[in-house]
Amino acid sequence: MTEEHFKKIISHSKEFGFIFPSSEIYDGLSATYDYGQNGVELKNNIKKFWWRSMVQMHENIVGIDAAIFMHPNTWKASGHIDAFNDPLIDNKDSKKRYRADILIEDYILKIEGKIEKEIKKAKKRFGKDFNEKTFRETNPNVLRRERDKNDIKIKMDKAFNSEDLSAIYDLIIELEITCPVSGSKNWTNVRQFNLMFKTDLGSVSGESTSIFLRPETAQGIFVNYLNVQKTGRKKIPFGIAQIGKAFRNEIIARQFIFRMREFEQMEMQFFIKPGTQQKWYEHWKETRMKWHKSLGIPEDYLRFHDHVKLAHYADAACDIEFKFPFGFKEIEGIHSRTNFDLKQHEELSKKKIRYFDPEKNESYIPYVVETSIGLDRMFLALISYSLKEETLEDGTSRTVLALPFSLAPNKAAVLPLVKKDGLSEKAKEIFNNLKSICNCAYDEKDSIGKRYRRNDALGTPFCITVDYESIEDNSVTVRERDSMNQERIKISELSNFIDSKVNMNLLF
Ligand code: GAP
Repeated sequence: MTEEHFKKIISHSKEFGFIFPSSEIYDGLSATYDYGQNGVELKNNIKKFWWRSMVQMHENIVGIDAAIFMHPNTWKASGHIDAFNDPLIDNKDSKKRYRADILIEDYILKIEGKIEKEIKKAKKRFGKDFNEKTFRETNPNVLRRERDKNDIKIKMDKAFNSEDLSAIYDLIIELEITCPVSGSKNWTNVRQFNLMFKTDLGSVSGESTSIFLRPETAQGIFVNYLNVQKTGRKKIPFGIAQIGKAFRNEIIARQFIFRMREFEQMEMQFFIKPGTQQKWYEHWKETRMKWHKSLGIPEDYLRFHDHVKLAHYADAACDIEFKFPFGFKEIEGIHSRTNFDLKQHEELSKKKIRYFDPEKNESYIPYVVETSIGLDRMFLALISYSLKEETLEDGTSRTVLALPFSLAPNKAAVLPLVKKDGLSEKAKEIFNNLKSICNCAYDEKDSIGKRYRRNDALGTPFCITVDYESIEDNSVTVRERDSMNQERIKISELSNFIDSKVNMNLLF
């Protein structure tokens, strides 16, 4: 996937009503996006699939929907007030602010770009005889650039792991990194910047009334652990799941919906007995990877990335990364969070947050393994690998959004061949019957060919064409999106046919 493909994803998302820049009539608001009429359907289907597989298919996981506003002590306890920071640097000439780690990562990306260019050139020169592996292992230019890249990575990891802000600054100066806007190397020192949005509760502004927009949904689960455990009579191990908005004042918010200031998370905290965390961590790693693959995401688009530097609350952590057009990036985190959060909440609230094990006659603060996936990133991942440009046998091309059938915004589009001679009425009748089975569309504008193309681009799995014969034989032509095969189906069998192909259960 390339930069070009990424541009195509952004323009396709807008053209077909998936994603619009927020408040566009006022020239938009950076890193904020609105989901359009088709985007909201796809997004809801992803949520539904996650909720079904994580909550409804597990007898020991339940869901909640906690408030976005929480008592300010929540964020003191969780460590977000003290430690939820990004290292920032300002360019004195352009007055632009950057994340120091991103500036260095971009520098590394440029080196990688040069390596890829070198390989592309050699491929062209040597043609069929080209062996990429050997070339990478022997070409002096590639080897030198790989060495440079690794040296920078080592220095960068050391500086960030020890939170040594002056070492980060020194590295930016040593690499002679310039501001993308002013082109100058005139940098301020590196400082920490808290990512939480702060606002005031009620009309009086003051320290005591400051509250935050939640930067993760997880804390809404932790503070409700006892409520759910007691009222649900839950036995450990059990999980609590939640889908909801989270907010982070990201300084570098970019790459479309990949990094936004307002986004949605789907999180599950699994409460376990201390000492069993390794087993459950492995279990959830495997389960979550299977979930991604069940959506038909090709194996080589997914990988684990184990964290070396662990967050203050974790004793093991990894990301599931997806191959976006701009490289492998995190879509989901799996974290073994120990008993850090519950212990902190116990201390600050002065309320006992324990689990009493009746069999062992002992009580303890449960440990937690968390799975946390960004809904918007999952949306972008699905669009990224589904959007295809195909050349057809007759030399023409088509754009197709090959989404898993059950996630597509519409499962079927009902299309009368022409608008006259009773075909519209017949088609509307079919549409009215089908709409209670699944989301479907009725479309009578433009030629049938154009309507097929439009529905391919929207990802609609089936186009149902009502023609003159339909009046006679009560059958319709059903065209499948991916193969473009057409078959004649009795109208009376249509609902069962569509349901048997698009039902979400087929994904499990
Ligand atoms: N409760 C743990 C937690 O919040 P995280 O790795 O910071 O962990 C989890 O976030 C997921 O949320 C990420 O894997 C990513 O998919 C999504 N996410 C985080 N920041 C985001 C942002 N600014 N825009 C969109 N998605 C984001």
